[in-house]
Amino acid sequence: MLDRRAFVMAAAGAAGALGAAGGQAAAATGAGGDPAVPATAPSSPRRSTRLAQWRFHLGHAADMARDFGYGRDQRTFAKAGTGTADAAQPGFDDSVWQAVQVPHDWAAALPFAAPVSAVAKDREDAAAAHGFKAIGRDWPGNSIGWYRTAIAVEPGDRDRILTLHFDGVFRDCVVFVNGYIVGTSASGYAPFLVEIGDFLDYDGGPNVVTLRVDATLGEGWFYEGAGIYRHVDLVRTAPVHVAPWGSAVRTEASATGARVAVRLDLANRARTAATLMVRHHVIGPDGERVAALPDQALTLTLAAGGEAVAEAMVDLSAPRLWSPASPSLYRLVSELLVDGALVDRYETVFGIRFLRFDAARGFLLNGQPTKLLGTCNHQDHAGVGTGIPDALHRWRIAQVQEMGGNAWRSAHNPPATALLDLADAMGMMMIVEMRRNSSDPEAMGELERIVRRDRNHPCVIAWSLGNEEPQQGTARGARITTVMQDRVRALDPTRPTTFAFDHSWDQGTAKVVDVVGFNYRTDRIEAFHQAHPTVPVYGSETGSTVATRGAYANDPAAHVVRAYDTEHPWWASTAEAWWSIAAERPYIAGGFIWTGFDYRGEPTPYPAWPSVSSYFGVMDLCGFPKDDFYYYRAWWRPDRPLVHLLPHWTWPGKEGQPIEVWVHGNCAEVELLLNGRSLGRKAMPRNRHLVWQVPYQPGRIEARGYDHGRITARDERRTAGVAAALRLTSNRTRLVANGTDIAMLMAEVVDARGTPVPDGAAAIDFTVAGDGRIIGVGNGDPTSHEPDVATRRTSFHALAQAILRTGTTPGGVRVTARAEGLRPATVQLFAHQA
Ligand code: GAL
Repeated sequence: MLDRRAFVMAAAGAAGALGAAGGQAAAATGAGGDPAVPATAPSSPRRSTRLAQWRFHLGHAADMARDFGYGRDQRTFAKAGTGTADAAQPGFDDSVWQAVQVPHDWAAALPFAAPVSAVAKDREDAAAAHGFKAIGRDWPGNSIGWYRTAIAVEPGDRDRILTLHFDGVFRDCVVFVNGYIVGTSASGYAPFLVEIGDFLDYDGGPNVVTLRVDATLGEGWFYEGAGIYRHVDLVRTAPVHVAPWGSAVRTEASATGARVAVRLDLANRARTAATLMVRHHVIGPDGERVAALPDQALTLTLAAGGEAVAEAMVDLSAPRLWSPASPSLYRLVSELLVDGALVDRYETVFGIRFLRFDAARGFLLNGQPTKLLGTCNHQDHAGVGTGIPDALHRWRIAQVQEMGGNAWRSAHNPPATALLDLADAMGMMMIVEMRRNSSDPEAMGELERIVRRDRNHPCVIAWSLGNEEPQQGTARGARITTVMQDRVRALDPTRPTTFAFDHSWDQGTAKVVDVVGFNYRTDRIEAFHQAHPTVPVYGSETGSTVATRGAYANDPAAHVVRAYDTEHPWWASTAEAWWSIAAERPYIAGGFIWTGFDYRGEPTPYPAWPSVSSYFGVMDLCGFPKDDFYYYRAWWRPDRPLVHLLPHWTWPGKEGQPIEVWVHGNCAEVELLLNGRSLGRKAMPRNRHLVWQVPYQPGRIEARGYDHGRITARDERRTAGVAAALRLTSNRTRLVANGTDIAMLMAEVVDARGTPVPDGAAAIDFTVAGDGRIIGVGNGDPTSHEPDVATRRTSFHALAQAILRTGTTPGGVRVTARAEGLRPATVQLFAHQA
């Protein structure tokens, strides 16, 4: 695969003598009582330990006595290490604190609460926007969270650099080590690093990391969660090492296939200079070494405390290109040697793909016009809030892919690294969005960390610098975004920038970014394109169709929205309206549905209690498909014949009355049959749907899809009898006993013959035998106020979800769902050795 056997390297670094401090770090094993997840090969002195087990307690935003002494006597910053907070001291007794596993969102477990203060009519209701959780200014006792974990310091750590990598904490947190304030982070979304080595006790400890997290204020107009809701890793390196997020791997087309250019930021944190050798090799998608050139490695000298950049290049012939259909991943392994001893091995996963937004041809991936079949998503899920386990990220991506989605806009904030890693591996393209459209130092720091962290992910196709900012159409907006864009380009010149506009598509910020996003108003893109034929364009938010899963009549009093593709707020459109425009115009790069999943907060179209979540999703809060899911599935996967029928067929009391029957599908013709009698065949118009008015008769309604005169797809609904039993299914039955794996369980209320009971509402208890536990439940009802962190949930329109997390003991795990008066159901799972 490798055809040009030459790495070309260049470097900058001050001359000096080889230091003694580097290169002594030995390989070691896991620490800290946490599941150790080595991110690198065991022989590397670099080691990453996941800190997943923490103790948690609520503090208090208005009462120091209940905030563990934080702020007492106004001496927080008076003396280093003491007086900062009682809970930050290593000897503090946290045994009564709750044991939690990170990712953790404490807001998910808080009750819902009707707003306590009246909201002015002209203001958005912040409590509604955040999903009516009892958090924020009105709830000072719920808005501060404290976390503690002990770190096992190892022999040799004194000579290493120890850095905590926080992937995301919501929000405004102070990080303490052994009582010392060692770092702060305001952003609820940007990753941040904290070096802790100076503050550790190397003579036996204890060594404790403490976080005070303040979620009183928000950054969004949607549910944001609270706490350490993404991973935390403790990274140990030698003093001579690759800087955090210090690699940039760029690929471009070359005569032979692909040229891979590497830029490595190096640091020497020792007090003496070091002469080191840098070498790289590349591991291909099949795990084989495709490039290795130790003999041409670079030698350079790094001054004490110095930094340097090492560059390298290699041409690969016939590379396996990354795409959604074939997400091939390569791995660059960069090694630093001092005196022949390995002092760092740094691995960078990357992909080789060529992308371009074109004003006439839309989005091109590896030269092929590729429609972006996108969903925008926030980051919460039923049961767990924003504390999403990796396996749940995986399931959510798979659900979107099942619908045909190939792209994801991480709205309106940078995503979790875990999500990006999975998107790389599963072939989901990503638009990474900044949380703040600002050029102040804090925002620029966030931007820099986000781009450095994410720039090697092949899934990332664009940087979004903002969304519907009030300044979007102004000269000031343009100025600010220019500063951001310059920094993005310096860190990553390989991807375009974009912005999601709801007006001013041809002025201000729109004149700055590479690709113009239309939030809604898809019908205005054509006129824009005529006027600006050289500007690439796509739908950054589309649809915002609203629906309650399984509901087929609007009921404003009950906050219910019918699931036919007809309902949307004034600024938005039906699924069919936007997609039929985008599908038929090659220059529109695609569109991102607002949203893939319902999310807590922003309860449109009923922005008031009792609604606590949005209605926008093509899937509900649990990821259960609503009917529009099948509209997209039909037209986004046209090669797979599909018909989907709505509504259900259980309408007692409506005998003889017309029922509006829709069929989504992609077959050339569809025939509808009621109790075996044909109601006629109709041609399916491209990117549209079919409608019949059918006088109700109980029994069976069936849709048959035909292509070339043959039946290629079917769907049916049967009239249900009374609820008699539960049915329980799991997305998978073989799990890993690693303490973090997940099974997504669906309980369904059915009648004696197994037909789903459309309005089935039963309080379902989930019990587990074996090493595993239910970490959260949901039902997709936007007005439900039942607790999510529970083992009981009332089914909504027949369905409820339970999320099971494995323990660490291999073996069988049996889950049973029970509800009064219904036959219980069981699934047998097996968790095998991690
Ligand atoms: C957009 C906004 C999204 C969401 C959406 C609802 O204006 O960017 O965050 O609020 O509307 O339709």
